Amino acid sequence: MPANSVIGLQWGDEGKGKIVDLLARNADYVVRYHGGNNAGHTVVLGNKRFFFRLTPSGIFHKKTKAIIANGVVLDPEVLITEMDILKKEGLNLKNKLFISPRCHLILPYHKELDIAYENARGKNKLGTTRRGIGPAYSDKVSYNGIRVYDLLDWNSFTVLFRFQAKIKNKILKTFGVKPINIDSALTLLKKQRTRLLPFIKDSFEILNDAVSKKKNILFEGAHGIMLDLDWSPYPFATASNTVIGGINTGSGLPVKSIDSVIGIVKAFTSRVGEGPLPTELHGRLADAIRERGAEYGTTTGRPRRIGWLDLESVRFSCKINNVAEIVITKLDILSGLLELKICTGYMLNGKFVHYADCGYKELAKVKPVYRTFPGWIEDISEIRKFSSLPKECRNYLNFIKKFLGVKIKFVSVGAERNANVKM
Ligand code: IMP
Repeated sequence: MPANSVIGLQWGDEGKGKIVDLLARNADYVVRYHGGNNAGHTVVLGNKRFFFRLTPSGIFHKKTKAIIANGVVLDPEVLITEMDILKKEGLNLKNKLFISPRCHLILPYHKELDIAYENARGKNKLGTTRRGIGPAYSDKVSYNGIRVYDLLDWNSFTVLFRFQAKIKNKILKTFGVKPINIDSALTLLKKQRTRLLPFIKDSFEILNDAVSKKKNILFEGAHGIMLDLDWSPYPFATASNTVIGGINTGSGLPVKSIDSVIGIVKAFTSRVGEGPLPTELHGRLADAIRERGAEYGTTTGRPRRIGWLDLESVRFSCKINNVAEIVITKLDILSGLLELKICTGYMLNGKFVHYADCGYKELAKVKPVYRTFPGWIEDISEIRKFSSLPKECRNYLNFIKKFLGVKIKFVSVGAERNANVKM
């Protein structure tokens, strides 16, 4: 299968990093095609743990090349920090890392604007990662963006940057926020430009050429489908399209070239940031799952909100992405619970409604319809065969498979690469 994609079917943090890292072993290219350093994934290599926000996960595999394609918004400071880590580990990034000139840049004023808007929203804040993602994408859409392409010509870059920064500083002043220092920002950007220039190459040709040569390509989705700019309970969204349509716009590969979509589903629900979460749990049960699962944001360190598995929304994610195969992650975290619940639908004012029928106000009011399952007490983290799992655990998995009408590729029961249950 030359072109595979891995996407999270919930609110992000489904554990995609481990799965991408596993699948990337056979990949010639791993591609990020949307989002920016609001994403975060941990790669475990021997006894070392690496945490990346922008660099595609498979970069440590010898033959794998990493592409940051055009749909990504790129903060030069963050990428250069990651490049330095990789260099320290002895990786030669020449001909291994490619950055599309079409990527829009996250510039210092975007980060300040993100923070200023969030602070101004007060108790109605969205809970963004404050990394400048929304402001950078909104500049892209309003033709005010500055791209990696613009870095190629420093003189015209400075003209564009000064123009935009002056306007942004006026906006920052209206928020009562200190404006950015344009000259010192430009001094830093000039240095960053020198670091990035050798890696600039468009993904369109690389990827289409790779497809014609039957190379293996892995598309690494960031965030989760419930955060998609169009299909989330907007405005509780991220600023990019997390659905697989984003691969076409964000990398230049035709949709028809994508052979399979692997959906990642955590065995329960979590989210960071504000916004409706129909199956949210509070109190000791949520705290216990959060602690056991180390459910704290990798990018921001924020405690994640916890809920029961919500198959109403996951079913929507499967449909919109044509998912035929899923990986279930973190099932081991649920060991020891007396009973488990799975949401199979939503009720609103006495009627069944679907995820797609709801705006953020409706989604905040829906009552989940639950199916209750007996739990299991055994530690399952050492189990590798489906038939060796406790009966209750198999029931839980079989129900998910049947309800969604998809195949379960495998089940992850631990952070290590081989901690997986074959189905
Ligand atoms: P932004 O993407 O920083 O603008 O944040 C918008 C919303 O998306 C917030 O609720 C964030 O917490 C959420 N978000 C963005 N990226 C991720 C992710 O990778 N995992 C989980 N939540 C995310």
